[in-house]
This record gives sequence, C-alpha cells and structure tokens, in this order.
Amino acid sequence: MRQVIAGNWKMNGKFSDIAAYAAGLSAAPMPVTLVVCPPFPLLAGFAAALKGSEAALGAQDCHANASGAHTGDVSASLLAEAGASYVILGHSERRADHGETNADVAAKVEAALAAGLIPIVCCGETEAERDAGEAEHVVRSQLTHSLPPGFAGLVAYEPIWAIGTGRTPSEADVAAIHAAIRAVLVAQFPASGAATPILYGGSVKPGNAAGLLALPEVGGALVGGASLNIADFLAIAASAPAAPAPAIAASALAS
Ligand code: PGA
Repeated sequence: MRQVIAGNWKMNGKFSDIAAYAAGLSAAPMPVTLVVCPPFPLLAGFAAALKGSEAALGAQDCHANASGAHTGDVSASLLAEAGASYVILGHSERRADHGETNADVAAKVEAALAAGLIPIVCCGETEAERDAGEAEHVVRSQLTHSLPPGFAGLVAYEPIWAIGTGRTPSEADVAAIHAAIRAVLVAQFPASGAATPILYGGSVKPGNAAGLLALPEVGGALVGGASLNIADFLAIAASAPAAPAPAIAASALAS
C-alpha cells in the first residue's frame, strides 16, 4: 500500500500560496499519496488548482452534525463539496483549544464517513504521560473511544510533546506505539484493522523522515511545520519507501 504523506497547514497559508504549492504537488510523480490540508477558505481554490493532479485535499476539522445552528462550524458534506476527500479529526490542538473529547471525535468521524470523507484520526500522549510510562495506555484509550463502529480511515500517532518542538520519540518508541495501535485496530475492527494506515506525526522533517517512514507499522506521516514549505514537504514524501511491487505470479516466471 502506498504511504500517505499529509500536510497539516494549521492556521497558516494565504490564497496567494495556492498556485505554486499546487504546482509543486503535481509536478513530480511520487511513490506516496500526497494530501494537503489547508484552512477552510483555501479548500475550493486548492481543489481547482489540483484538478488533474494525483494529490488529494483534506480539511482540518468538521462538525458532527450535517447542518444547523452551529455558528463558525463547517459540515463534512460541505467540505466534500469544496473538494476535500480527507479530514483530520481529533488533533491534539483541537482537543486542547476546543475541549474536544474522544466522544466528540467519534461523532465527527461518523459525520465524515457519512459524507464520504476519509478521516485521519489523531491520538498522542503528553510529555508527563510519557514520563509516567503511560503513553501506550493513553493512546490505546483515546483510540478505543475515538473510533466509532464501522470506522474506515487512517490513524495518526502524534505525541503532543513532539509537535512543533523539533523533538521526536526514538525510532524504537515510535515502533512500539505503532505496534500497540495496530493491536487496538485489529481487536476493534477484525475485518479492516490490519490494513488501516497508521501515520506518524510530530516534528517530521526532511532530515528524519526516511528513518521514521521505514519503521514497521508506519504508513506515512502527518506533517505540520515542514509542510508549509513545498520543497521540504516533497523531500519528506520522496524519502518514503515505495509501495511493494505487485507479486509476480509463479506462472509468469515459468514462461
Ligand atoms: P509538526 O506538527 O510537524 O509541526 O510537529 C505536526 C502536527 O501537528 O500535525
């Protein structure tokens, strides 16, 4: 399966950034699926600029309801209409800034799926939780309660203390948490859990991407700061291992 490299622009970017960034995304064939997640007002412009490109578009949040009196919020179906095919949900900045609970995230995931969007559901521990030896427990609990029945999408493991800090967990720690996440997914979703991509996020840069992306159970990256620079974002994407070639049938080899 191709790795997914998703860029989370957070509250950054301008209309004038769209053309050059979209051209960069479309220029070189990549061994990965590229997704750019800009602020809401830039979605439709990006969708137009990415027409004919293999790169995909994502949003950074959606409301749990399909419509209604929710000032300032945006429905999943409107995001889809604007051209998004992915949506980041339960990012730690939304959990912290907007008090989003696991139950809120699960409701948003259901809304996203109903609108045909692919959710990227975030989880991750604080530094205090890691220091207390609680990282795996926290992440397991977040996922168990943030993923509704019928979940289909991606999970992103983003240790909060690694976001925007330039610090990352050791490769062994990333591999251990990703293995724990895989176990949760397989237990909770026996039919699909083995194939759910698990992204790593938190200070992914061109210099550390190859090592992180080569780890077992790492299916791509969710990139914040480094995604704002198209050259850095493409360098990260280029360092992902290529998807394995399709198996050659024994009969083809024999002939
Ligand atoms: P960062 O952010 O790459 O700037 O650490 C990652 C994220 O929050 O998705």
